[in-house]
Amino acid sequence: RVPRPWGWVTGFFTYETTKSVVVKSWSVGIINRVVQLLIILYFVCYVFYREKAYQVRDSGIQSSVMTKVKGFGYVNNHVMDVADYVAPTQGSAVFCIITKLIVTENQFQGRCPEVESSYKCDSDQDCSKHLGSYLGNGVITGSCVKSSQGNRCEMVGWCPAEVDKLQVKPMMEVENFTIFIKNSIRFPRFNVTRGNFPSSLNKTYIRSCRYDSSHNRHCPIFKVGDVLRYTGQNLSTIGHTGGEIGINIQWLCNLDLSEERCEPHYSFTRLDAVFEKNRVSKGYNFRFAKYYKSENGTDFRTLHKAYAIRFDILVTGLAGKFDPIPTLINIVAAFTSVGLGSILCDLILLNFLTGADQYKARKFEEVFFVLFLYTINITSLSTPSSPSIKPVSNDSGAVSLNLDQQL
Ligand SMILES: *[C@@H]1O[C@H](CO)[C@@H](O)[C@H](O)[C@H]1NC(C)=O
Repeated sequence: RVPRPWGWVTGFFTYETTKSVVVKSWSVGIINRVVQLLIILYFVCYVFYREKAYQVRDSGIQSSVMTKVKGFGYVNNHVMDVADYVAPTQGSAVFCIITKLIVTENQFQGRCPEVESSYKCDSDQDCSKHLGSYLGNGVITGSCVKSSQGNRCEMVGWCPAEVDKLQVKPMMEVENFTIFIKNSIRFPRFNVTRGNFPSSLNKTYIRSCRYDSSHNRHCPIFKVGDVLRYTGQNLSTIGHTGGEIGINIQWLCNLDLSEERCEPHYSFTRLDAVFEKNRVSKGYNFRFAKYYKSENGTDFRTLHKAYAIRFDILVTGLAGKFDPIPTLINIVAAFTSVGLGSILCDLILLNFLTGADQYKARKFEEVFFVLFLYTINITSLSTPSSPSIKPVSNDSGAVSLNLDQQL
């Protein structure tokens, strides 16, 4: 007999194994194997092959974008070059190409009538409701004055006031402008650095190529007209109202393959498409002014209201590479999931199959009855030399097989 203090040790160093019930039934057997096969197929085809669960990922892409626009256009018989129509001029990932300009020249500080018909007035009384408004061209004084269009409320500010309802033709040459995009990226986890065009590309090709998704996938020069066409826009409408176009550069890299195959994919969207049909704030415009000094020392300016296509270059990326840890975790998950087949089979066996009661009786033994029998066996028919079965209270209440000879 094991001494009392060691009782828990022998109790602890035991191994419990589940007892299996083998069911020889074709239908359940087939269901079991089919379910297992489906689970294996799911893991092999989807989890491992498609989703590449054996890889670690890096989505924290570091990216830098440089842009350069080229082309000449005409506005009011003036030739416009890059310095005139690109804003801001630094060549960042977000830039505007101005397509339409409303120019108000020679504005001086002073008092003058407003222009819009909403500022119509018959007496000073009519103008008091506009006091403090931010919608006009300047600070409303509250008096009603004569102007060339009739009586209008007076304002203080840069005069004469801008008339922005003029019909101006957009600069149609924009469709032939080119955008050169230089994008370098890095996946910090794998220390992989890539550029959006291969360094092997020769100079003459880069000079003359234009991107298209089938033949010139590596060309970093985009024709504005093509970009608009890819997004389903045409210049005659977007040129009038302005708008926002997204150029997405997506880097999906499987670094188990050659690094050379880590290439960018371009896609194009109109980012402000949700507001396109809106009644207010359609398109995109902004104002800027150029300031001059007259001979007598007073400032005057030329105000520009610019309608522009704004380009946002958005870079996203995801790189993956084989790693033993996710591989192991997912293999274990796959093996565990194969066991899920038995849950379905149990459900069918216990509920829907003929002879379900019989199977139930075999699967769930009545523990109280068995305990009772064993107790009799131990106390009255005590046969120390043969292996006997006894209930042990300290091992989760399961019936255990005691192979020790002594009792
Ligand atoms: C754009 O270029 C093409 C070919 O060079 C030319 O035919 C077309 O007139 C140009 N478009 C505009 C608006 O200038």
